[in-house]
Amino acid sequence: MNKLSKLTAFLLTAAMAVSMSACTANSTAASPSAGNSGSSSSSAAAQTSVEKIKAAGKVIMSTNAEFEPFEYKDGDQIVGIDVDIAQKIADKLGVKLEIKDMAFDSLVTDLKSGKSNFIAAGMTVTDDRKKNVDFSNTYFNASQAILVQKGSALKAPSDLNGKKVGVQQGTTGDTYCTNEDGKSDVKVGSVSRYNKGVDAVTDLINGKIDAVVINNFPATKFEQKNPDKIVKLDKALTSEGYAIAVQKGDEALLKVVNEVLSEMKSSGELDKTIEKYKAALGA
Ligand code: ARG
Repeated sequence: MNKLSKLTAFLLTAAMAVSMSACTANSTAASPSAGNSGSSSSSAAAQTSVEKIKAAGKVIMSTNAEFEPFEYKDGDQIVGIDVDIAQKIADKLGVKLEIKDMAFDSLVTDLKSGKSNFIAAGMTVTDDRKKNVDFSNTYFNASQAILVQKGSALKAPSDLNGKKVGVQQGTTGDTYCTNEDGKSDVKVGSVSRYNKGVDAVTDLINGKIDAVVINNFPATKFEQKNPDKIVKLDKALTSEGYAIAVQKGDEALLKVVNEVLSEMKSSGELDKTIEKYKAALGA
């Protein structure tokens, strides 16, 4: 290529990049304008993520619908506390809510690649995740609970030492049991990782593992559904806060999310929503 054609090729590519970023693709989520490192410093007013979402007419939430009562399947519908919050966010934006269901440990990568606008998945705020996403204010306080077989000799967290424990892959229960940060006060024998909490519970009931470590609220739901087979121990392992994750630097959407959360908190609607799902599907 001579110098001139190289320059033409470069200009063409640049022009394509600019026109592509100006239109909102249907298949991908509207991505934030802030934090787009390396983007050209074109003087045309950059659209904020919220403007892009409005133009697309939909906002995409990603989740892992295996975490009742925050997100789970009711027939072919995905419902739960997080879905109700996400619907409020969509309403505030005046757009449709689209839900993408995937493995929990794919959520951050999917969001980072711009395929969704936010994660609502009972996701605990952790320093490690903060390197990749930005979190809203927290909307729920949770802990890690221990489920054991009814009549089990395991009565307290320290009894997990040396035992076979099931967790949901990539969750804070996984981090705790694997002792990734070296901070856990119990040293389990081995960790079995499952994509769905319910599969861990099945293995517990069948005696393949000694305990399941999972967040308190879903643990209660599993206990309610199998009252004669499993029990939740009284003592919790950690304390955590759930928040909604947006792409790093997506200040525009984060602001809307935080507004919705604080409106729901102050109007009492958040508590009402949580109560509604607490009551639903009881024993
Ligand atoms: N709170 C835990 C975490 O952030 C578990 C969340 C699991 N959520 C789900 N939708 N499966 O790791």
